[in-house]
Amino acid sequence: MAKKILILPGDGIGPEIVAEARKVLDLVNEQFNLGLEMQEALVGGAAIDATGIPLPAETLEAAQAADAILLGAVGGPQWDTNPDFQIRPEKGLLGIRANLGLFGNLRPAILYPQLAHASTLKPEVVSGLDILIVRELTGGIYFGQPRGYRTKEGGVREGFNTYVYDENEIRRIGRVAFEAARARNKKLCSVDKANVLEVTVLWREVMNELSAEYPDVELSHMYVDNAAMQLVRAPKQFDVIVTGNMFGDILSDAAAMLTGSIGMLPSASLDANNKGMYEPCHGSAPDIAGQGIANPLATILSAAMMLRYSLGEGAAADKIEAAVSQVLDQGLRTGDIMSEGMQRVGTAEMGDAVVAA
Ligand code: NAI
Ligand code: MG
Repeated sequence: MAKKILILPGDGIGPEIVAEARKVLDLVNEQFNLGLEMQEALVGGAAIDATGIPLPAETLEAAQAADAILLGAVGGPQWDTNPDFQIRPEKGLLGIRANLGLFGNLRPAILYPQLAHASTLKPEVVSGLDILIVRELTGGIYFGQPRGYRTKEGGVREGFNTYVYDENEIRRIGRVAFEAARARNKKLCSVDKANVLEVTVLWREVMNELSAEYPDVELSHMYVDNAAMQLVRAPKQFDVIVTGNMFGDILSDAAAMLTGSIGMLPSASLDANNKGMYEPCHGSAPDIAGQGIANPLATILSAAMMLRYSLGEGAAADKIEAAVSQVLDQGLRTGDIMSEGMQRVGTAEMGDAVVAA
């Protein structure tokens, strides 16, 4: 049966980098006989310009009908002045995540040996780094009710948010993480603040319960403040980390930067059936949009993740990842990962090189 892929180029460098991922997808589609049917739609600022809203009904319907979604990036200064927050490009992404229930955010942080110099950490601390952060994406303190900002009696201002998870929300993200750990090195570290926050006492309980279903995976627990410290001190002690929305937001950005190269990092946001949206970790880079110099590799690696996690095509994913490593071996570099003695290439040249590899 044909599998439907929805492609959302978005804004800024989005269309440029997605075009390169598309070349790679078209090739593996043919080589591996994947039967992928690809369709494009508007989201973010591009959708606002064309239709007045960041997530047109047509795009949402196509997203719901798709087996997987590949996104470039959304946003840009020309839309940031709109006082109506509903008409911001980011609302397009949040709308897809919420409507599709994409609660499982997978963010690998991989340091390619060819780019070891890009990290701000010592080579012996980060060389060979390959960790995966699994972040809960649709619950926790970012979504808890009640929330607000008010002035109390006596004129004192007060802001408040509610940190809440129920056991079902914890269990489903826990399963995503245990499955991912099972497919990797069978080591999972759950990060919480169970010494202070009751909600994470429950988090720890549920992770321990789940662990009985995954006897092959070694589960450990760590407080978030220590996890932040350990990520910088000795990141290679981790394999898969699972945590809630806010802790995951912060830790995954820190982990990403251990590799030093924003143009290299893919991500996935999954629902309970492994349907997902795949996108680079970086944004729309308006400062370099339209110049043909953006690094397309994070988007190409996102396409590989899509094949692995949503389409069950691990062999095709492996092939793409090997091709990326090969072009780095050849010394090809876009500006963001450039170093002395390497060959500087543009967006399309990099995409073509991956296709050739
Ligand atoms: P950004 O990630 O777009 O850019 C940060 C810096 O990294 C810039 O100097 C940019 O040129 C560079 N950069 C990013 N991706 C690159 C690539 N593939 N190749 C080479 N260099 C690259 O983050 P920034 O500047 O904070 O945000 C720009 C816009 O992107 C904003 O409108 C923001 O809201 C949006 N954004 C969208 C995201 C998404 O669609 N998921 C995520 C993050 C930001
Ligand atoms: Mg963030």
